[in-house]
Amino acid sequence: MPFNINAIRQQFPALNQSVDGKTPIFFDGPGGSQTTKTTLNAIRDYFAFYNANLGSNFFSGVKTTEVMQQAREAVAALVNAPSADTISFGGSATMLMFNFSRAIGRDWQEGDEIIITAADHYSNVSSWKHIAKDKGVTVHQIAVDEQTFEIDYDELASKIDNNTKLIAFTYASNTLGSVLDAKRIIEMAKSVGALTFIDAVHYAPHFSIDVQQLDCDFLVLSAYKFTGPHVAAIYAKTEHLEGLTPYKVEPATEVAPNRWEQGTQNFEGLAGMTAAIEYLASLSGQELADSPLRDRLETAFDNIKSYEQTLSAHFLDKLKAIEGVTLYGKKSIEGRSPTFAFRLPKGTPAEFADFCAKRVVGVGAGNFYAQGLCEQLGIMEDGGVIRAGCLHYNTIEEIDVLFDLIDEFLNA
Ligand SMILES: Cc1ncc(COP(=O)(O)O)c(C=O)c1O
Repeated sequence: MPFNINAIRQQFPALNQSVDGKTPIFFDGPGGSQTTKTTLNAIRDYFAFYNANLGSNFFSGVKTTEVMQQAREAVAALVNAPSADTISFGGSATMLMFNFSRAIGRDWQEGDEIIITAADHYSNVSSWKHIAKDKGVTVHQIAVDEQTFEIDYDELASKIDNNTKLIAFTYASNTLGSVLDAKRIIEMAKSVGALTFIDAVHYAPHFSIDVQQLDCDFLVLSAYKFTGPHVAAIYAKTEHLEGLTPYKVEPATEVAPNRWEQGTQNFEGLAGMTAAIEYLASLSGQELADSPLRDRLETAFDNIKSYEQTLSAHFLDKLKAIEGVTLYGKKSIEGRSPTFAFRLPKGTPAEFADFCAKRVVGVGAGNFYAQGLCEQLGIMEDGGVIRAGCLHYNTIEEIDVLFDLIDEFLNA
């Protein structure tokens, strides 16, 4: 299907509003995406007509149970999980990471080791550091390779041994945009019997995920990064959902996956997440409208990837032309999302972001919780980076506006 960007943008109220007399330009997708009318309606309809809790036979309770099951099935399709029962929900990816890290690390002992990376958002670092500290477990943090902007796989290989209990890593960096070689890391982990915990929060809006092909143990994503509301989901192998012991309220069910869901879930958010996944699937085109959700998602992500690569190519070409600019990340369109971290030869990242915000163009400035990365690059105390992140609803023309602003900023 040709990617009909105008028809796509029509579906997003935020992209068609006027702010200070201008149409806003959102390059803050890695921080949070905008949403569609269908997703808004799904949230509103649940909230307006069905607000209830699980387990009741009243029509609203039945609907609530249905909404939750539909969300499990939609996320299972999104990550190609073997069953909807391998998916559970939480308030945010960070909350799921803290929750699961407690349970996964429950039986760790002194002498055990775990591996985290400097490419990660610190939700997938601090959660592990806390439990490691409690259990006296050694933590190795693998550096970012400053040539490939992935991680240093040789360093990783040198740190893995029979004491390694877990490798926690990001599928794609929320700051650099680089995609890590997840399959390679998982193979390394498996060679010593270590678990793998993948943060797919930044990866999920851009690429198709297949947990069966990866054969990872855990994988987390957050719906507000892929046009959904502020809820998160985790895939875990059944053996872990049943075998590990969650921190839970005693009378709450012992049946997986519900036993991992603490308290009442955000049902309107789950309805919205399902709608957001359906929206992504719709990007596969009309011809596939009757195909199974997973098939539509795979085609949709092929389309998203090729459109986003045209955005990346344009962005990188434009960036190359700026004298004195530093790009932190891959210089080619392969192996990256359309998220760009850079510094300009003049001004701080915050000054540039502020300059853009005044002109209703949203870019980020700072460390984006990728603290290990910014420390390694020596820019943590120096304002971090400018982050401009595209999603599939951004356009070449919007990128041109951003580069006009860069010119204006540098020549002011
Ligand atoms: C790569 C990555 N991981 C984790 C998170 C945290 O997600 P949440 O806000 O759902 O806790 C973010 C948020 O920006 C992120 O970009």
